[in-house]
Amino acid sequence: MSVALVTGAAGGLGAAIAARLAQEHAVLLTDVDASRVADTAADLAASGAKVAHAVCDVARETSVEEAFAAAEEQLGEVDMPANVAGIGGVMTEFTTLTEEQWDRTFAVNTRGTFLTCRELVRRRAGRPGAIVNIASIGARLGWEGIADYGASKAAVLELTHTVARVGAPTGLRANAVMPGLIWTDMWRHATEWMIANDPEAAGASPEQVFASHVERMVPMKRPQTATDIAEAVAFLLSDKAANITGQTISVDGGVIMT
Ligand SMILES: NC(=O)c1ccc[n+]([C@@H]2O[C@H](COP(=O)([O-])OP(=O)(O)OC[C@H]3O[C@@H](n4cnc5c(N)ncnc54)[C@H](O)[C@@H]3O)[C@@H](O)[C@H]2O)c1
Repeated sequence: MSVALVTGAAGGLGAAIAARLAQEHAVLLTDVDASRVADTAADLAASGAKVAHAVCDVARETSVEEAFAAAEEQLGEVDMPANVAGIGGVMTEFTTLTEEQWDRTFAVNTRGTFLTCRELVRRRAGRPGAIVNIASIGARLGWEGIADYGASKAAVLELTHTVARVGAPTGLRANAVMPGLIWTDMWRHATEWMIANDPEAAGASPEQVFASHVERMVPMKRPQTATDIAEAVAFLLSDKAANITGQTISVDGGVIMT
């Protein structure tokens, strides 16, 4: 049985990915939010899944190392991390984007993903494994309100290429998934900001603002679901994807076409 480690697994996409992976593997759910990740893991364990949980702030090296050690102690050696932890949803006009916000976004989204990838490559030391990094369509949109977020996710794509090259000779694969528009806390925060700051959104509900973005941005005119993303992650981590590395799959109803 493989052992997956999912970061940002307390809720949203991370919880759905952990639940999907737990159908086939042992899973360590990690998150910076201690109580929510414990609750999410307890729900999965109650349904018979082989799961454990640990608190992990992906922006901190020692915290990432401790999470891998916790997995090994409780479930076995990790061979497939899914890097889902991320921050976003803070819309900011480009000229007012601060150094602090830029650095914080990169610390979690980019450094956090790097630290987990590096830890897996170190620990697997020349043996196979598989990584999925969650990027975002925001890496390709040039959207002014999310300059920090978009750039941090674009960096995740190039990091994925590097890890794929480093791991390729020994069968360690790395791929990225670019989710489209999924209604989670991240979009709730973004839409609340728009309602407060954008005259076009004033008076609408967060759900209405989200629906209008789906209508405008998604060629298939439908939002994506956490399950859509979880299925793509499960595929890329499975042996069915044994010859796929260094790739990005957009699960976005056609927003980004490559
Ligand atoms: N929701 C979308 O439409 C969408 C689209 C594209 C990409 N994404 C990406 O998917 C991932 C999950 O997003 P979501 O929509 O589920 O958001 P979310 O806010 O619901 O979940 C993010 C999770 O990450 C955790 N987290 C935050 N900082 C952390 C840290 N330093 N260390 C560990 N965990 C931390 C949070 O506690 C939370 O549980 C993110 O990387 C996000 O950028 C989401």
